[in-house]
Amino acid sequence: MKEKIDALLGEIKAAQAETEEQLEAYRLRFIGTKNVVKDLMQGMRDVAPDLRKEMGQSLNTLKNAAQDKFQELVGDVNRQKSADESHDHVDLTLPAAGTPLGGVHPIQAMEDQIIQIFSRMGFNVSDGPEIEDDWHNFTALNFPPNHPAREMQDTFFIERNPDMVLRTHTSNTQIRVMEGQKPPIRTICPGRVYRNETITARSHCFFHQVEGLYVDKGVSFKDLKDTLYHFAREMYGKNTKVRFRPSYFPFTEPSAEMDISCFICDQKGCNVCKYTGWVEILGSGMVDPNVLEACGIDPDVYSGFAFGMGIERQAMLKYQVNDLRLFSENDVRFLKQFQSL
Ligand code: DAH
Repeated sequence: MKEKIDALLGEIKAAQAETEEQLEAYRLRFIGTKNVVKDLMQGMRDVAPDLRKEMGQSLNTLKNAAQDKFQELVGDVNRQKSADESHDHVDLTLPAAGTPLGGVHPIQAMEDQIIQIFSRMGFNVSDGPEIEDDWHNFTALNFPPNHPAREMQDTFFIERNPDMVLRTHTSNTQIRVMEGQKPPIRTICPGRVYRNETITARSHCFFHQVEGLYVDKGVSFKDLKDTLYHFAREMYGKNTKVRFRPSYFPFTEPSAEMDISCFICDQKGCNVCKYTGWVEILGSGMVDPNVLEACGIDPDVYSGFAFGMGIERQAMLKYQVNDLRLFSENDVRFLKQFQSL
């Protein structure tokens, strides 16, 4: 009897069940109505009286072990079952759940495109400060002392006498570049600029510009036109036409504004070009000799051209956006539309 009990204890200890069938086989053998423990209990009658107590206890231990093990196996089989079920629901052929990605802001995308086009023509990129002194924002750029652009309504002054301002244009950077480098200079200067203007659909107190500067021996107005014509065609398509209109800027002489043919209506007339067939995209001109001189560059040896364009203005044109404020309000419903840029 003792050997039988020990053998069954060993069997119980080693028992395993992964399937319902295995579990049922165990149950029939150790728990069911005709189980092996019961069989042994029947045999108690034949055990010598002095051994009965000990055998009885051993049989009880066996019975408990059989039951404990059964509970354990039920748990095992259930766990296995639910693991199998959850596997059944994983469809490995499905595409992975998408991770939402951010997008490039349309102003940044536009700036990147402008940089790319000019870098292919040999222009590098320069950076200048947004908080600027009067010299770099105005005086070195040949602004007369009482020029209207210096007036309070246009400029954010941070300090007076000596004046520190939030730069009103990126032209400050052309001064800094010319002060610090010798020609040949071929650079573009993107950045944020500030003007004390009411915020409306068409004007804002800050926006972005790209300044361009080319200074070397023998740079002519033809170089200016060729460069900007090439830019317009790269940016707005090979069929883009350009026209230059005489204009005035203190820092260039002569000065010109450049229009491109309206690519929205193909010059048939629409509200973007105000039915003229042309839209203005930038100001430009030959660097005024006074400006070269202010930066220590001899205007008798060197000449140059410069240009400046608003990034928002181009982004509005290119992406047909009719309200400048959308670019700085960070409304994701607006920004999402540019996610592929
Ligand atoms: N600084 C001018 C502005 O803010 C833009 C500009 C025009 C820049 C002509 C230039 C230029 O370099 O040559 O309106």
